[in-house]
Amino acid sequence: MSDLPPASPFRLLRRTLLAWFRKNKRQLPFRESPDAWRVWVSEVMLQQTRMEAVLPRYGAFVARFPDPGALADASEDEVLAAWAGLGYYGRARALHRAARQLAAEDRDIPGKAESLRGLPGIGEYTAAAIASIAFGEPVAAVDGNVRRVLSRLFMVGGVRGRAPFEGRVRDLAGRLMEADGARDPGDWNQALMELGATVCTPAVPRCGPCPVREFCWSRVAGRQTEFPERPARPRAVSVRLAVAVVRDREGRILVFRRGESPMRGLYELPCGEYRSDESADTALVREAASRYGIRLQPARALSGFRHTVMNRRIAVVPFEADLVDPAPSGIGPAGRFVHPRELDRIPSGSMLRKALQRVGSTSRAAGKPSERLLVSAPGDP
Ligand code: ADE
Repeated sequence: MSDLPPASPFRLLRRTLLAWFRKNKRQLPFRESPDAWRVWVSEVMLQQTRMEAVLPRYGAFVARFPDPGALADASEDEVLAAWAGLGYYGRARALHRAARQLAAEDRDIPGKAESLRGLPGIGEYTAAAIASIAFGEPVAAVDGNVRRVLSRLFMVGGVRGRAPFEGRVRDLAGRLMEADGARDPGDWNQALMELGATVCTPAVPRCGPCPVREFCWSRVAGRQTEFPERPARPRAVSVRLAVAVVRDREGRILVFRRGESPMRGLYELPCGEYRSDESADTALVREAASRYGIRLQPARALSGFRHTVMNRRIAVVPFEADLVDPAPSGIGPAGRFVHPRELDRIPSGSMLRKALQRVGSTSRAAGKPSERLLVSAPGDP
């Protein structure tokens, strides 16, 4: 008989999940080498953006900025342009500030979660993810996926974001990290995240192939979809937006720089919100005058599309439009004409690209522009 103490359930759970992770983990570019900068960038990108949206942009970003020094040397415009399409641009600005702070203090990336937390844009989760994955510090990284997995495994009730739920999850995450000698902290954290991302998915957990189904209290009780409890969601706000694609004689596109956060510093097409009881082209003329000081003449409605920014669900109706006063002096200091080839080099949101892809398309509905728009805004019931 062995005189070792019996393996605790936590230790068995850890070993089972780690073995599964090593066999089944996705090949991701930031897993190729545990370089702290590459891990940092991936974690910031993944904070509010899905993996499928991050992957096409991640490689180009770390190729353009291979270390914090390269990012510190870049202008904010360059950083925002490289971030284009990922949204939540405050993250890019914070990453830039953090890189500049390290450069100014002539410091390497800190290796401990506690020091990482002092840098702009790095909260508790991101600090723990970088410290464990890149530096092997045994700190639990608790993101949304991990919260869900632990809540289901141990039937943790209560509302996410509130003290009883968060306290219990933190406690479990810490104890699981420490079990089995706190081995392989980076792999352990990623194993939990991976399970949440690929198996223990939000709406319908895939319990059949789950490697830790035998350990899962809520599955054994047949109550896996009851955890975690769903908080009431802030209601999405529906907005209608008319957008103008204005070209000069050389085919360059008119864009304006935004001054207000969170889109501060990004370029947009001239646009304006409109109500359901008014026509998009009329509102566009009015908004263009009040927001940008330009006189627009909508010429042709293009096909509409939907776009979501944070909790705003936007029904976008793009127009090809002409400037009534085409002199460059008429577009003010925030406006400029940009060649389509150069659009990748200016910071802009993905709505601008989506609208430009519609050039050449036509609104499906017939009639005068104002009539067309009232019937063709996407999302209208
Ligand atoms: N989400 C955020 N970071 C991740 C990682 N390293 N692996 C899997 N999913 C993640």
